[in-house]
Amino acid sequence: MSNGRSFYITTPIYYPSDLPHIGHGYTSVAVDTLARWHRQSGDDTWMLTGTDEHGQKMLRAAAANGVTPQEWVDRLVTQSWFPLLETLGVANDDFIRTTQARHEERVQQFVQALYDRGYIYAGEYEALYCVGCEEFKPEAEIVDGTGPFEGLKVCAIHSKPLELLQEKNYFFKLSEFQDRLLELYKTEPDFVRPDSARNEVVSFVKSGLKDLSISRSAFDWGIRVPWDDAHVIYVWVDALLNYATAVGYGTDPDQFARRWPAYHVVGKDILRFHAVIWPAMLMAAGLDVPRGVFAHGWLLVGGEKMSKSKLTGIAPTEITDVFGSDAYRFYFLSAIAFGQDGSFSWEDLSARYQAELANGFGNLASRTIAMIERYFEGIVPPAGHELTDADRAVKEVVRSAAADADAEIERFRIDGAIAAIWRIVDELNGYITLNEPWALAKDDARRERLGTVLYTAAEGLRALAVLLSPVMPVATEKLWIALGAAETLGRLQDQPLREAGEWGVLKPGTPVNGLSPLFPRVEQ
Ligand code: ME8
Ligand code: MG
Repeated sequence: MSNGRSFYITTPIYYPSDLPHIGHGYTSVAVDTLARWHRQSGDDTWMLTGTDEHGQKMLRAAAANGVTPQEWVDRLVTQSWFPLLETLGVANDDFIRTTQARHEERVQQFVQALYDRGYIYAGEYEALYCVGCEEFKPEAEIVDGTGPFEGLKVCAIHSKPLELLQEKNYFFKLSEFQDRLLELYKTEPDFVRPDSARNEVVSFVKSGLKDLSISRSAFDWGIRVPWDDAHVIYVWVDALLNYATAVGYGTDPDQFARRWPAYHVVGKDILRFHAVIWPAMLMAAGLDVPRGVFAHGWLLVGGEKMSKSKLTGIAPTEITDVFGSDAYRFYFLSAIAFGQDGSFSWEDLSARYQAELANGFGNLASRTIAMIERYFEGIVPPAGHELTDADRAVKEVVRSAAADADAEIERFRIDGAIAAIWRIVDELNGYITLNEPWALAKDDARRERLGTVLYTAAEGLRALAVLLSPVMPVATEKLWIALGAAETLGRLQDQPLREAGEWGVLKPGTPVNGLSPLFPRVEQ
């Protein structure tokens, strides 16, 4: 069912120096939802995620635990990072680890190509480095330490002391790309989204770019610089290249042509690497720049960016063990405007679970199925001939909500898409209250009307199952089975998303199946 339109989307590759927390899970479920939406719309979709395994941060984490860096990353990736995908219901197409040969060899090839093209030179360097960021910090992100770090310069993001590094380094001529980057942001206004991110990037580049140090010689946990084995390639150059090496850069030109360029979704902490350094590296190599970079906001705990290094990290399983993976996905993707920061709290999560999922969507599904069982022996009734304004209104809400949701997804506004789809939930709940099928059922003369009302509700649920399947794959699959739709319409994931708003798809005469609560009561 492919329409030939390529859609390649990536998450950042995370540092497996430590365990995943709900911030990592947030990016991954957002990207998975976008990928599922496009895949189910017939786009030639590819979703990539993975782990960023080199660098000083990793070396120190391994040393602190008394193992080699390779042992450390192998342990963390298999015990924690692969299982995270399962925990959250992420259906990625590939998982790249930067210690894989397929990656390491191609990174060397890329860096050699830049060297041969004259974009790399050797120089001396002295600057303040943050191991948490794996970055030489610009002036604007260096602040005075407080508490135990009084009197020291610390990183504005990690609040940990910076280290003064003095080394011979190789440099990439990033400064030469200032004009071409500004031109890119101008001709492709959607290259960086949302607007707040775009503005930040444009003013950063306008203020002038310095050449970038791209090698380190003080340690050896990295990929060797091909022409000088006293150096390893800077971990960010190594990491950014995963997006290309994973889809055949340097090995499989057909695959690379089919997938590249990508959309990158990242947290705003790493926006500049993706929107400035990465496109400049690609320009230098003569390759296409990404199709776009979307920077989402931070999950905040107590007003601060959630992070392991500040011990504010919450494990995704703490949420999924209680509420399930669908609720995790729904909560973060609907409660936070995609692109802005959002505060996490257990109270907000439970309140939304109860109001929107259990009482709103779940109850609508349960009572509709139960009434079809009770009043029509479990067979979806015919739609009837005489439609009222209320029936027509439902049909119109389904049509417009589906169209609006698709438009929101095109703009990466997952929260906007869910809000549009939720108009159907609210409309149907109001429709049932207004039409009182339980009262109609008492009057034999109103049996056709009763059928129309329950058909309308069931058909609305059919649309909801399709539209919500990228966000909540587990609950919608249960609903799909309960509606009996699997028998007559085929698998849920094969239902074309861009046609979900059409009316009259569910076939009257379909036998429904009992439905246990989609979102069971949670003990507080
Ligand atoms: O930066 N809120 O890896 P990383 C929202 N290896 N998202 C958050 C978050 C929070 N509080 N904390 C983390 C790296 N994230 C590099 C990336 S890519 C070529 C290399 C998410 O393990 C968000 O996506 O520090 C952020 O950008 C990413 O995790 C950083 O993960
Ligand atoms: Mg980080």
